[in-house]
Amino acid sequence: MRHLLSTRDLTRDDAVAILDVAEDMADVSTREIKKLPALRGKTVVNLFFEDSTRTRISFEAAAKRLSADVINFAAKGSSVSKGESLKDTAQTLAAIGADAVVVRHGASGAPQVLATSGWIDAGVVNAGDGTHEHPTQALLDAFTIRRRFFGTDARGRDLAGLSVVIVGDVIHSRVARSNAWLLTTLGASVRLVAPPTLLPVGVNTWPVTVDYSLDDSLAKPADVVMMLRVQGERMNAAFFPNAREYSRLWGLDDARLAGLGEGTIVMHPGPMNRGLEISSGAADSARSTVLEQVSNGVSVRMAVLYLLLSGEREDLA
Ligand code: NCD
Repeated sequence: MRHLLSTRDLTRDDAVAILDVAEDMADVSTREIKKLPALRGKTVVNLFFEDSTRTRISFEAAAKRLSADVINFAAKGSSVSKGESLKDTAQTLAAIGADAVVVRHGASGAPQVLATSGWIDAGVVNAGDGTHEHPTQALLDAFTIRRRFFGTDARGRDLAGLSVVIVGDVIHSRVARSNAWLLTTLGASVRLVAPPTLLPVGVNTWPVTVDYSLDDSLAKPADVVMMLRVQGERMNAAFFPNAREYSRLWGLDDARLAGLGEGTIVMHPGPMNRGLEISSGAADSARSTVLEQVSNGVSVRMAVLYLLLSGEREDLA
């Protein structure tokens, strides 16, 4: 594996292998000394052109636990705000000697450009590009699902037989896109639930089914209900009448939570709009995996950085 840009081009075996390495990394995170020397001497740059809390600190923790040197580069406060181009930024990072660049960018495709431009020779990890993809989020979601349903001793297993419902602002969600590809590659069945205004053109080409009513969809079996954040910052028009109407029709409120099947889990990538797409009752319930997703994120990102930067990366290529 040279770069991780998308979940679309991962095979089932690639994906299971990443989850298995993440399981080894999770063992390290439970030790008193949460550190491996694997990436000593390597430099990982976190290049964030968009705001982020958990993804950035998660990659930072992951790189540090593998003993890499980490440079955090936020576009605000850097020369990017003076108009420096992606090319000049990339060449600067190359000159500094970056071995991996973790990039989040508002433009879909920016990590791809970085990986293929020749401006820099580092491995590129997509940490979210516009409304396109967020592969490590989907991998940590898959890891969280595998652990919840099959335990920590599930190496080699995929997600066959599980059904996942992804609800809400699909059109703006790179999390939904990456999960639609990855979870189906891993054998799960995925259905999207959203009002037509929040579904992208071309969703009929995705490997999913679509429901328009949350209540109808939740009346069918669901192992996982994944709520998406309503992405106000990407909305330049009225996609739904108002917040009240949205939560009435599309929100996971306490009543819908109470109606879920016994083993159903509730996921959210964060940051949550409590009271809009998810009630506090749902977010803080025993079904919720929100904080597990965050801790699992570190293990999954350790696995990705390790596979990208250690000598064994060819094993997965
Ligand atoms: C997601 C993102 O930034 O794409 N958050 C995250 O990485 N945890 C989802 C979101 O912002 O809604």
